[in-house]
Amino acid sequence: MTEIVAKNLKANVGQRVIFEQVSLSIPDRSIVALVGPSGSGKTTLLNCLGLLRTPDQGTIEFDGHQAVERWSDRSRREFWRDKAAFIYQDYGLIEDETVAYNVTLRTPSIFGRRRSDSKLEQTLETVGLSGRENERAVVLSGGEKQRVGIARALYKGATCIFADEPTASL
Ligand SMILES: Nc1ncnc2c1ncn2[C@@H]1O[C@H](COP(=O)(O)OP(=O)(O)OP(=O)(O)O)[C@@H](O)[C@H]1O
Ligand SMILES: [Mg+2]
Repeated sequence: MTEIVAKNLKANVGQRVIFEQVSLSIPDRSIVALVGPSGSGKTTLLNCLGLLRTPDQGTIEFDGHQAVERWSDRSRREFWRDKAAFIYQDYGLIEDETVAYNVTLRTPSIFGRRRSDSKLEQTLETVGLSGRENERAVVLSGGEKQRVGIARALYKGATCIFADEPTASL
């Protein structure tokens, strides 16, 4: 997964049309960037594609599954749990928790020491944060926090990564 096809999407906020007639096709194994002025609706469109917001018109397909914007809460939760990862502009970290927790979303063992996790080590190396797993997120710089957010998406092995300005602080 995942090929994403969107047809004729529209989003309103109250009476105001944020965008309309947006159709796009994102092939599997590709990276697509949405580019546009501030306030033009990039985050809103990303939220529609990630099933965080229901478009006011139009339809979305994942790998040929039609009308995923009408999936039940349960199907959407499964998609978020198993397939999708979100990297947010504001990092989306739990500031009081460690880097390791923020990447893996697993608490350390009751002995307070995490068993060695080579996937975690490898992921932190990829984002340039080797050896930082036990630091609390609150002490990291903006760019380091953003890299922890990226590491979380990579660690999860998501097949579909929705990133909102993931390099704004790098
Ligand atoms: N929940 C909401 N309530 C009110 N207005 C909203 C809401 N969501 C989006 N908007 C409005 O929709 C417009 C598009 O917002 P959006 O965040 O999608 O823009 P953007 O292209 O991501 O901008 P930026 O580059 O600044 O992040 C903005 O004018 C915003 O105020
Ligand atoms: Mg935005």
